[in-house]
Amino acid sequence: MSYPIITAAEAACYINNGDGVGISGFTLSGTPKTVLPEVAKRAEEAHAAGKPFKINLYTGASTGDSIDGVLTRAKALNFRAPFISNPTVRDAINNKEIIYADLHLSLMAQDLRYGYLGKVDVAILEAIDITPDGKVYLTTAGGIGQTVANLADRIIIERNTFHHTMGLHDVYEPKDPPYRTEIPVYKASDRIGKPYVQVDPKKVVGIVEVCLPNEQVVFKELDPVTRKIGENVANFILGDFKRGIIPATGLPIQSGIGNVANAVLKALDDCTELPPLDLYSEVLQDSVIELMERGRVNAGSTCSLSLSQECLQHVYDNLDFFRDRLILRPSEISNHPEVIRRLGLIAMNTAIAVDLYGCVNSSHIGGTRLMNGIGGSGDFARNAYISIFMTPSTQKGGAISSIVPMVTHADHTEHDVRVVATEWGVADLRGKGPDERARLLIENCAHPDYRNLLWDYLKIAKNGHVSHNVAAALALNTTYEREGDMRKIDWGRYL
Ligand code: COA
Repeated sequence: MSYPIITAAEAACYINNGDGVGISGFTLSGTPKTVLPEVAKRAEEAHAAGKPFKINLYTGASTGDSIDGVLTRAKALNFRAPFISNPTVRDAINNKEIIYADLHLSLMAQDLRYGYLGKVDVAILEAIDITPDGKVYLTTAGGIGQTVANLADRIIIERNTFHHTMGLHDVYEPKDPPYRTEIPVYKASDRIGKPYVQVDPKKVVGIVEVCLPNEQVVFKELDPVTRKIGENVANFILGDFKRGIIPATGLPIQSGIGNVANAVLKALDDCTELPPLDLYSEVLQDSVIELMERGRVNAGSTCSLSLSQECLQHVYDNLDFFRDRLILRPSEISNHPEVIRRLGLIAMNTAIAVDLYGCVNSSHIGGTRLMNGIGGSGDFARNAYISIFMTPSTQKGGAISSIVPMVTHADHTEHDVRVVATEWGVADLRGKGPDERARLLIENCAHPDYRNLLWDYLKIAKNGHVSHNVAAALALNTTYEREGDMRKIDWGRYL
């Protein structure tokens, strides 16, 4: 079958007010680049004519300004799931202009199949190519491509000749209950599916030709605090390795995106006693590519290649080397609890705040304002061999403690959080009761300026198994305020 070549504006005409639109990609990687901005223009035209135009947008994870930003500014989004990171859409969600469902990323494809999120009318897939019999070779991310292609009535292909990811994908979609069987990934490097997404060629309404790189994330430079967190986590892992808690062969690691993750990878690289590791993660950044080339990382299983343009080009130039070492999976598999538990991951994620018993807030500043969402942190934390949460001990120049009496929003409970690390040290919470957890978090992780406040809280909150007294804590803050001490325990304040 041959497919019509259409413009992005023509493709946008297949998307109507009220439609559910599912797209390929995960973070800024592998998302379609030209059709959704045209949908935003359609929305603006409709609004100018006094007509409604909003879509429901389903993705693998966050997207960049060219999708979430542009659609938000055009007031074209009604519903959004499962993760965001763009400031424009974040503000609109916090202002309740867009309905947002904050989902574990492993559940997104499944929730769509189960019908929890409404209909997928249109799928837009960014691909390096599509064959006449409907084999779609995705670009730089697995995401939810296969699922939305199966569910959609209409499929638009953005053929992006910038990318050369042939042979990196491993597309596998589990059957739904009661027919589901095990997912046969036994090693990070195992391939269990097909290198392409299979679509019904009859649903493909056209191909939009583009040649565009992914949007780029700009990371802050490593600072002394993030560097120290990285060292603390790496030393902790090394300690568990030397004690035999981590087997001699090592265990695969999951690490998020951003500064702290980079600092940990850098520090792990410096631990030459550790064997070369596998990565089983949802994102993979430049540092892993360097480690792979130096033989410190054997295999990298990921949902998306979150690489700088320069590093991505390097991968494309050396595809024969990387094809055996990089595996791009759908988010349902990269984040699947069954596989994470089986492989025994060392999972490292970042917290906004951690309470005295180890409950973690990853998603809502001050308990009310969405930051990004839970993302994959819950998939990994609940099921990992060792679940580590990292955070700087303070925020806003020291005005807010990240170690708090009680988190104002709980994404990960004390039952899922095994280890907490800040620049001051590590609290190993495994096998500890609540009082001991609190002591370790105060003494090892809290900033010294906040330790007395936290001890004061524990003294007045003495009750039950897990001690809390919110009213007393609020009174405590007022006392400190009256005495001119502007340090705050975070009780829903956002400075
Ligand atoms: N109170 C007030 N503000 C806080 C805060 C707190 N307790 N904790 C963080 N912030 C603010 C920071 O000051 C910063 O503000 P700024 O943008 O104005 O500078 C902002 O929140 C981001 O903090 P930063 O320390 O730069 O965070 P980060 O980039 O390391 O991201 C998370 C931290 C938690 C937001 C991020 O890791 C996330 O979204 N996690 C959930 C998803 C996830 O874990 N996915 C799995 C791995 S990919």
